[in-house]
Amino acid sequence: MNTPEKRVVLVTGATGGLGTAMCRKLYDDGYTVVANYRNEEKALEWQKKQLEDGYDIAIYYADVADFDSCGAMIDNIVKDKGHVDVLVNNAGITKDGAFRKMSYENWKSVMTTNLDSVFNCTRHVINPMIDRGFGRIINISSVNGQRGQFGQANYSAAKAGMHGFTKTLAMEVASKGVTVNTISPGYIGTDMVMAVKEEIRNQIIAQIPMGRLGGTEEVAYLVSFLASEHANFITGANLSINGGQHVY
Ligand code: CAA
Repeated sequence: MNTPEKRVVLVTGATGGLGTAMCRKLYDDGYTVVANYRNEEKALEWQKKQLEDGYDIAIYYADVADFDSCGAMIDNIVKDKGHVDVLVNNAGITKDGAFRKMSYENWKSVMTTNLDSVFNCTRHVINPMIDRGFGRIINISSVNGQRGQFGQANYSAAKAGMHGFTKTLAMEVASKGVTVNTISPGYIGTDMVMAVKEEIRNQIIAQIPMGRLGGTEEVAYLVSFLASEHANFITGANLSINGGQHVY
């Protein structure tokens, strides 16, 4: 059971590259970390690996594209840990392809997993955060939501939508001790980015002034900072972390 001073962080899509780095950093920084997953077999293996490395992280199933599934997950977390202080909306997928060939299914699955999920999870935690006078919503968007990317009409739309959500909810809960922010990572060395064809990936890296992909831990440090009380006055912001690929 968590002690009163231990804040509880829920990371969605925790078993991916970014999610794993966030969970470990937040754990190192003293949080009680709970990890959302969709694929049980992968999650159990992931949990075992984290434990071997000294990270004791409870895992909770939810399909973030489904409102009721998220509600059931959050009920279970509250039963076990008491409450959720920090929600990191990190779960996301890609279904890349030129728009003129994009199927409705590939549009819809990216919108529900990447954008509806933000409503589905946040809606279940926001009122308890307001009641306790503290909360953090951290939405993991993308440089491609800020600037667009060939082959990502679905993904860019969902990621841009996340920040519209951030701005409005930040205004609504600013007086209640709850902050809402977006982080927009550029190309980070995750499986998702490594799935882009090597030739295309190399062209993208050539457009990054720092000449390299970002590290997952570099994003994780920013998440931990936003979760902390040092970031009390930051809300409604969109923080870029992209090696200079998109400046504006
Ligand atoms: N810019 C301009 N034109 C391009 C292009 C580009 N980047 N890519 C392809 N084209 C052109 C092609 O040359 C082709 O031209 P013609 O019709 O004249 O021959 C036309 O566009 C269509 O190309 P394809 O038929 O090959 O298009 P496709 O439907 O197969 O899709 C793609 C191509 C798979 C989307 C490919 O462009 C691609 O992989 N792009 C990268 C997508 C990307 O960056 N994804 C990021 C994933 S990681 C992530 O999302 C994390 C994050 O937040 C950053």
